[in-house]
Amino acid sequence: MANILHIDTSPRGERSHSRTFTHKFVAAWKAAHPEDTLTYRDLGRNPVPHVDESWIAAAFTPPNAHTPEIAQAIKVSDALIDELQAADRYIFGVPMYNLNIPSTFKAYIDQIVRVGRTFAITEQGGYQGLLEGKKSLVITARGGSFTGDSPFTPYDYQEPYLKAIFGFIGITDVSFIHLENLNAGDAAREESFAQGQEAIAHAVASW
Ligand SMILES: Cc1cc2nc3c(=O)[nH]c(=O)nc-3n(C[C@H](O)[C@H](O)[C@H](O)COP(=O)(O)O)c2cc1C
Repeated sequence: MANILHIDTSPRGERSHSRTFTHKFVAAWKAAHPEDTLTYRDLGRNPVPHVDESWIAAAFTPPNAHTPEIAQAIKVSDALIDELQAADRYIFGVPMYNLNIPSTFKAYIDQIVRVGRTFAITEQGGYQGLLEGKKSLVITARGGSFTGDSPFTPYDYQEPYLKAIFGFIGITDVSFIHLENLNAGDAAREESFAQGQEAIAHAVASW
């Protein structure tokens, strides 16, 4: 039995393709694994706060020196990290915005990447991710194409960034399904949906 954390980041509702496909994946996954538990977070509709000065001060204060004010400044961060640690597998729906992830998702990442909680600084001054044995699946939605022989592959700042930052906190098993060419006409969009559907069936069987 696994605990699944499903996070959508598009501000769009029914019209969001990333959201539609994460829900398709989760429905298929639940049908195949009814014993798994599911937690859902909607960053598109309920964004988390940006880190601020009190957050930064608190995040770098050792736990034994926490006052009630310091604890309050990182309360949201603590809850998000608890939720992340409690799950074994993550499924993220992520639109491409200006070649990267939406700021809602970046605000979330800034909340969960925390020294002493999700990464440690070693005695040699290196970094060590503290999340272990987790798996992540990211379903992106893109107006254009940034894979295969597209001339825009160097402009994909989503997949390399997410691999790097998840790896930094110890999540090294990260796979992607890219829904592409969604703004390139009806035929291209339908083809992308068909490929996405196939990729989901494959991911449900092999994840
Ligand atoms: C603010 C904004 C920026 C976007 N930037 C890009 C981009 O850089 N590259 C791209 O291929 N599509 C871009 N798009 C198109 C979206 O990636 C596409 O509409 C996608 O389907 C959005 O995800 P969603 O359907 O889950 O909401 C952008 C859309 C918006 C609203």
